[in-house]
Amino acid sequence: MTPFMFVTDLDHTLVGDDAALTQLNQILTQHRHEYGTKIVYATGRSPVLYKELQIEKNLIAPDALVVSVGTEIYLDGKNTADSSWAEILSTGWHREQVLSITEQFSELELQPDSEQRPFKVSFFLKQEVAASVIPQIELMLEKYKLNVKLIYSSGVDLDIVPRSSDKGQAMQFLRQKWKFAAERTVVCGDSGNDIALFAVGNERGIIVGNARQELLEWHNQYPANHRYLAQNFCAGGILEGLKYFGFIK
Ligand code: GLC
Ligand code: MG
Repeated sequence: MTPFMFVTDLDHTLVGDDAALTQLNQILTQHRHEYGTKIVYATGRSPVLYKELQIEKNLIAPDALVVSVGTEIYLDGKNTADSSWAEILSTGWHREQVLSITEQFSELELQPDSEQRPFKVSFFLKQEVAASVIPQIELMLEKYKLNVKLIYSSGVDLDIVPRSSDKGQAMQFLRQKWKFAAERTVVCGDSGNDIALFAVGNERGIIVGNARQELLEWHNQYPANHRYLAQNFCAGGILEGLKYFGFIK
């Protein structure tokens, strides 16, 4: 067996089936110990909400933690975000301007303070109006030449982040840093903010069986042989996919 880079979303992907998670944790811990496999969590949560989940589910320590939809990277359990990644994101990012423009849209409801981050502004937006409102917001932000990207997840969350950032870009940054080939990298997810993980390159992809509609629609539109749609839910689907690609026995 050779090492691989394991990248996974948390809510409804790694977390959601406690028995399967226990089994997966054992396999990953052993693989890391024996072969040097790297474990990366890529979540939309802020550091505060990540810590809550980490304690609640007793998550194993990752080699890198990507939080706030790819806008912050914490390496080797450090408490401060990687500054070279922050530097890349800061070019052309104007948080205050994003806030003042989005204020004009009454459909947007700000998420709690803990989820507002240096490179991420987040709202709740109802599914019924999302398809019509998102293009209007995009147009307005473009008009002011703001270099941003809108990411809609789970029929409720709208994140606005720098264009050079998302879970996929953060994953590529780590892959290059650690020199893992795309073929030895596997990404797992269930919802809209995970599309970037699957879309960025030729990494092996595992879509868990309980994936959300926005991700399934995208997958059907852009099918690829290096992406596997699992039958099982959450960590059970990850185990199934890791075996399918031959990363584990
Ligand atoms: C997490 C974050 C939230 C974000 C969502 C989707 O739930 O807490 O701020 O909008 O993920 O990325
Ligand atoms: Mg998720």
